[in-house]
Amino acid sequence: MSVVPSRTGRLIVVSNRVALPKQTATGGLASAMRAALQEAGGLWFGWSGKIAGETAATVHHLYDGPVHYATIDLSRDDHDHFYDGFANRTLWPLLHYRPDLVDYNRGHLDGYLRVNRVFAERLAALVEQDDAIWINDYHLIPLASMLRERGVRNRIGFFLHTPLPPAGLLIALPRHRELLETLAAYDLVGVHTARDLRALEEYFVHETGARLRGGHRLRLGHRRFHAGVFPIGIDTRQVAEAAAKAGTLDPIEDLRSSLEGRALIIGVDRLDYSKGLPQRFDAYARLLERMPDWHRRVSFLQIAPPSRSTVPEYRQIRRDLERKAGHINGVYAAPDWVPIRYVNKSFPHSVLSGYYRNAKVGLVTPMRDGMNLVAKEYVASQNPEDPGVLVLSRFAGAAQELDEALLVNPADTEEVADALERALAMPLEERKMRWRAMMDVLERQDITAWRRSFLAALRE
Ligand code: F6P
Repeated sequence: MSVVPSRTGRLIVVSNRVALPKQTATGGLASAMRAALQEAGGLWFGWSGKIAGETAATVHHLYDGPVHYATIDLSRDDHDHFYDGFANRTLWPLLHYRPDLVDYNRGHLDGYLRVNRVFAERLAALVEQDDAIWINDYHLIPLASMLRERGVRNRIGFFLHTPLPPAGLLIALPRHRELLETLAAYDLVGVHTARDLRALEEYFVHETGARLRGGHRLRLGHRRFHAGVFPIGIDTRQVAEAAAKAGTLDPIEDLRSSLEGRALIIGVDRLDYSKGLPQRFDAYARLLERMPDWHRRVSFLQIAPPSRSTVPEYRQIRRDLERKAGHINGVYAAPDWVPIRYVNKSFPHSVLSGYYRNAKVGLVTPMRDGMNLVAKEYVASQNPEDPGVLVLSRFAGAAQELDEALLVNPADTEEVADALERALAMPLEERKMRWRAMMDVLERQDITAWRRSFLAALRE
């Protein structure tokens, strides 16, 4: 461990998942935070990704360029209750509008609060006077209130990377007030869309008795805080450049030659029930059923790295998808044509951007998603002279900005199959026009603009 001179006014990013140097960052949050910290410098605090005998026995420090990483391990029991349990079996399904999947095990909430308390203890010791603290996501909702209890007076912002459902659903959460009221300990709470902001304000006004003032200012007891919409972006220029260069990489050449001129449809998602993968497979099967002309002329590549694989719902969806992919290939494949290529692996971003550029259609159809950065990366990766078409769920936060995509209801198999058909046949002029309009948004609201606008509002 090397010693770094103390600085004031740093940015401290806190998130459960930390993308350590040289690790492939899966998921939007880790990629976005990595980009933000590489530009701004600062400290990134979170879980090391490791299970140990004891939670946070030591804090691991690592320095890489402008970024100082400080991470802690979790014990098996804490990990099971905090991460698998309350975060991913209670909060995650509820935040994604799936109350039917919520697990009401009370031990999970205790474990969640316990781990948040450990985060607060270890982090409080690292905070310096003028640091701005930026806490991310549903794993760490009560962290600011626990830091305040330890005397931390700094500016603290929270960003929720998932959707926030309406108050009528949020009250299905066990001890919802006890948990959600702690959001008032932040100075700023950010969400991706106006719909999420409405839900937050509705919950506070109707369930906690908070007062709502102009400019999205809320007052609950003696605490005042702001809420705001900050749609997360990507490093648009870097993604576009990487995609333009990727053509010579072996994996890209291999993919292109294996296609033998067929049109490629691509989907890239963590293997998660919120991503609408079974419905997507059904829509593709429907396309093949309706359009025999497309047989042998199209190939669908679904990349789905396994995620949270100790959680039963995630094991179940993995089994369902294997069955569906096998069934579709069984029905439609020919000796020289595989309709679905289903790959449970993650790939570096440089390779993914090359895959996106070679795909005529980006198929991004979550049932619910906070933002969905794959949609944005697909657009940024396109060849301006011959861009592909984005088919996008209207329930992804990205649909609020990328309205020149073909917007679909992911549960409506016919509608998604229609959109695929239209995308595959779309004339070049229309593709260029839609792509340009989306690219303008991505260039304007990139990751740097997102970080700056959130931090400016936090420091205001
Ligand atoms: O809120 C969304 C998100 O934080 C994504 O950024 C990420 O894909 C996921 O949730 C977290 O995944 P994991 O459980 O692998 O950390």
